[in-house]
Amino acid sequence: MLNLDAPDITLVPPFMERIEYARKSMSKLEWKAFCAEDRQLAAWREFLCDDPYTRHALLKPRGYAGDAVVMDYAYRHSSVMRHVAAESEYGRIIYETTSGAPQSQSARDRISLIASTIERLAKDNKLRVGSFASGHARELESIKYASELIHEFVAIDADNMSLYEINNSYGLAIKIRAINHNIFRLSADNIGMLDFAYSMGLFDYLNVSAAKRTLRLISETVDRGGTLLFGNLTEEAANLGYCEAVMDWWMIPRTYDEMTELGEILERTDKWSVKVLQQGCFYYLLGVRED
Ligand SMILES: C[S@@+](CC[C@H](N)C(=O)[O-])C[C@H]1O[C@@H](n2cnc3c(N)ncnc32)[C@H](O)[C@@H]1O
Repeated sequence: MLNLDAPDITLVPPFMERIEYARKSMSKLEWKAFCAEDRQLAAWREFLCDDPYTRHALLKPRGYAGDAVVMDYAYRHSSVMRHVAAESEYGRIIYETTSGAPQSQSARDRISLIASTIERLAKDNKLRVGSFASGHARELESIKYASELIHEFVAIDADNMSLYEINNSYGLAIKIRAINHNIFRLSADNIGMLDFAYSMGLFDYLNVSAAKRTLRLISETVDRGGTLLFGNLTEEAANLGYCEAVMDWWMIPRTYDEMTELGEILERTDKWSVKVLQQGCFYYLLGVRED
C-alpha cells in the first residue's frame, strides 16, 4: 500500500504524481479498496476540497458525476472564475494545479477541435449541428461567426439546467433546438438529420453495449456526406487517479483497438470512412458518411 505524506499545499503536485503512480501499480481491487479506506487519502481529499473544481466534482450537486459545471471548471470558463476568485488562497492555488493538469488541458483542446471542425465543415453551407450530451456547449463560444455557420444547433441532454444555460448564453445568436431527454430513449426521428453530429463527455460513461447503441443512434442522424465525431478518454489519460481517488469520478477509458472496434458499427450499415485519432488524453473517432 501507498504511504502518503500529510496534506500540505507545497506537496500538491507531487501528491498528484504519486496518486497516478499508485493507480498504475495496484490491481483494480486494491485500488478500489485504497480509495475507499485509506485515511491519509481521506485527509488529502478534505484538504483538496478548498479547490471548487475538486469540491464540485466530489459533491455532485446535480446528482451525477461529471456535470456541465465541472466541465466549466476544467475549461476555466468565465462563469466559474468568480467562484474561484472568492476561494481561499489555498483553494486558488490548488485550482491552478487541477485546471492546469493534462486532462483539463485536453478538455480545453477538445472544445477547440469541435469549433475548428464546425468552421471547416461549414465552408460551403450552413450546418445542421447536433451535440449528444451537450452540457453547456461552450464550444459555441470558440467558433468564429457561429451564427453564420450554423443553421440549427440541436442540443440533447438529460439535464434541463444545462439546456437552460445554452439557451440563455447562446440562444439569441444561434438557432437552438433543445431536446431534454435521456439519449437511450430517443430515436433518430426525434432528432432529425444533421450535417455534423458529435458527442463529448458521454462515451466515457458507457459500457460497450451502451456505447454501440449510442453510436448507432448518432450515426442514424448523420445525413449523406455528413460527419460524426465522438471522444473518449484513453487508458493512459494523465489524471484518472485523481478523478477516481479524490473526486470519486469514475469513467471508462478506452484503448485504440476498442475505439476502432466501435467504429466498425458504422461500416456495417452504410459506407463510412472512419479514423481514430489521439489528441492529448482523448481518442476521437471521426466518421464521414459517403454521399
Ligand atoms: C461530462 S458532461 C459533457 C458536456 C459537454 N458535452 C462537454 O464536453 O463539456 C456530460 C453531460 O452528459 C449528459 N448526459 C449524461 N448521460 C446522458 C444521457 N443518458 N442522456 C442525455 N444526456 C446525458 C449530462 O447531463 C451532462 O450534461
